[in-house]
Amino acid sequence: MKTITKKQELAAEVASLKAQGKTIGFVPTMGALHDGHMALVGRAVQENRCCVMSVFDNPTQFNNATDLEKYPRNLQRDEEKLRAAGVAILFAPTPEEMYEPEEMAHPFAFDFGGLDQVMEGKYRPGHFNGVVQVVSKLFTLVQPRKAYFGEKDFQQLAIIHRMVRLMHFPVEIVDCPIVREASGLALSSRNERLSDEQRKKAVRISEVLRESRNFAPAKPVKEVAQWVVDAINAVDGLQVEYYEIVDAATLQAVDQWEGHCVGCVTVYCGDVRLIDNIRYC
Ligand code: PAF
Repeated sequence: MKTITKKQELAAEVASLKAQGKTIGFVPTMGALHDGHMALVGRAVQENRCCVMSVFDNPTQFNNATDLEKYPRNLQRDEEKLRAAGVAILFAPTPEEMYEPEEMAHPFAFDFGGLDQVMEGKYRPGHFNGVVQVVSKLFTLVQPRKAYFGEKDFQQLAIIHRMVRLMHFPVEIVDCPIVREASGLALSSRNERLSDEQRKKAVRISEVLRESRNFAPAKPVKEVAQWVVDAINAVDGLQVEYYEIVDAATLQAVDQWEGHCVGCVTVYCGDVRLIDNIRYC
């Protein structure tokens, strides 16, 4: 595996792969790799002639400087995992390599069609501008045939699909299911920051989401949503930031069980912000 930090060097590698007729599968990440990331990598390695990964803590998608600072990092451990998994190229640039100073100064403009006005977008203003900014740059540099994203970041995935449509990227987005611990806790780099006690409490998030499926569609959407919030908040140390039951395509809150409905939750476990989601129908 080659680790590359300069975009010019990456461009030369990509040109050489293309000249050899090798198709590229791409997995963008912010590092602190766990088994959820490795499931994406496993698919990308299996389904493409060549797998390219990126590890880049993108500063423009963090609306909170402390959150960026606390984000776990371990490039050396990530490199070992990726080498063992059969990744060909790891791209790990610095912010200065990715951005001109003026690009960091204002939010990246994109027509989200309202997808950024709800849930994560409401609580982390500018977050998705940064995501689209960096992923569009990475797609331009890596030129993948397929790119792999996890369904845990459900809203991000919907926005990436829209970005690919609007910007005409010739890339197939592969949606990959959430990977969970045996306890049900959704894997996340942020789980590293949970104490043992907090980890046990956080398991309740996925349990409650699963249990709530027993009530749908017999009970109204609003009642199920309130039950989820109350059941999670009943655990000392857990605090729901939002729980929304939304249409899977538009991400707008629904009041009827119609079409594909997904429940998306963000919960603070101490100062660790965890997200999860569940499909109802
Ligand atoms: O999901 C993530 O890890 C990030 O948002 C992404 C897609 C790598 C962009 O920085």
